[in-house]
Amino acid sequence: MGTKAKGKVQKAKGKNQGREHFLKKMPRSILNFCLLPFALCLLPCLSLAADPSYTTEIFPLLRDNCLACHSAAGKAGGLLMGSYESLIKGGANGPAIVPGKSGESRMVQMLQGKIQPQMPMGGKLAPEHIATIIRWIDAGAPGGVAPADATPKIPDIKPRVAVNAEIGSLAYSPDGKLLAVGSFKEVDLLDVASGKRVATLGGHADVVRSLAFSRDGKLLAAAGGLPARSGEVIVWDVAARTMLATVHGHADCIYGVAFSADGQRIATSSYDKLIKLWDAATGKETATLKDHIDSIYALQFSPDGKRIASGAADRTVKLWDAATGQRLFTLSEPLEGVLTLDFHPSGKRIAAAGADKFIRIWDLTDKGGTMVQSMAGHEDAILKIAYSPDGKKLVSSSADRSIKVWDAATLEEQQVLARQPDWVLALAFSPDGRRLVAGRFDGSLSFYETTTFQEVSKAMLAKK
Ligand code: HEC
Repeated sequence: MGTKAKGKVQKAKGKNQGREHFLKKMPRSILNFCLLPFALCLLPCLSLAADPSYTTEIFPLLRDNCLACHSAAGKAGGLLMGSYESLIKGGANGPAIVPGKSGESRMVQMLQGKIQPQMPMGGKLAPEHIATIIRWIDAGAPGGVAPADATPKIPDIKPRVAVNAEIGSLAYSPDGKLLAVGSFKEVDLLDVASGKRVATLGGHADVVRSLAFSRDGKLLAAAGGLPARSGEVIVWDVAARTMLATVHGHADCIYGVAFSADGQRIATSSYDKLIKLWDAATGKETATLKDHIDSIYALQFSPDGKRIASGAADRTVKLWDAATGQRLFTLSEPLEGVLTLDFHPSGKRIAAAGADKFIRIWDLTDKGGTMVQSMAGHEDAILKIAYSPDGKKLVSSSADRSIKVWDAATLEEQQVLARQPDWVLALAFSPDGRRLVAGRFDGSLSFYETTTFQEVSKAMLAKK
């Protein structure tokens, strides 16, 4: 497989994993469960009908739902579906179809979600279409000629531009002059005053899911890695635009990266349930913090640098001693996975939110945390929250495609920025607190001024 094709495979994969990871704890099984009666009924009922034809039924189905990724241009999983011969030949994992045996066919198992990732990537085939494919395979998968009109229809999931452009992370430099935008394999540095891109830092393995500047603004840590394989952090010299160190560790991609107050250490949290500490200059691992029992999405140092907070799919927020790596205490009120958290600028409070749609705020002491606020904030999972630099406001973004602005003290809703064009995966306040920037799954960015929260400018990450 050429490098180009490989890139596309990973693009599609990264994109799907992004949502997949976030939605992992959602009741997907309910959907599968609902499809079951269909499959059971359609099988015996329809087997009396004529066997489906490759040319007039199967190929059009594959063309409309699969070919966008499984053609010579995409070659996802090494599987080409442009002709009967290539389909039967199979992909990277061997034959996708066992003629006569739909139950043993990888393609069917993937359509049904029995093998992950479920196909079509990022979507789902209608039960009657899956049934047609099953009938065709059970009839021996008879061949035929692919019609000349094999132009793939872009599947009704996400335009491919969006797959390429996903904004996974945002960070302002401490002086507020630069905005770092993390996307697929790249970090763009935007000059905030002119809105122009001044540099592109490339070479990342996959989507850059978390970004952190050191407090002096000299270093930028950009984290991500390959889902189910390895985590990666590249530490950049911001002025020189050169790589200083590359961290490779964790058994899965990294969702959170943060700098210690002195800029000498970085902390990472991963889908592999671990937090690790690294020497920022050398990329050498110095400690592993174990206690979460599920993927860790959010990570931050406290403003005084003495503690680390982590939020995980195991429904907890944990606080750790940043110097010793010792776990201090666990906040366990969330009912579902925690996807995001933020320390109040005073360091005395912490807010967290996630799949249960609640925003919760705890007062922190040396020994523990007391929940002081709890509010059903959105109609779907909360993806990101952030305190304004003055600590007076809290903003949240959600899979319900809105951003909300809250009074940080009372959690009174102050503003709703509804109808976001796509999920806002990244949110950041400028250090002076005058701008809020939102980065979305479709590659778009919006800047809001922070008195009335009107959009003052927007940008679209170029298709790569
Ligand atoms: C948006 C892109 C995309 C679409 C659309 C898509 N796939 Fe895939 N498919 C992939 C990717 C990426 C892989 C590789 C997954 C992996 O190895 O983790 C893959 C792998 C597969 C494989 C396994 C190949 C192998 O040998 O490993 C099968 C079978 C498959 N897809 C079937 C389908 C079918 C059937 C459809 C349409 C109903 C479809 N796919 C639609 C992206 C897509």
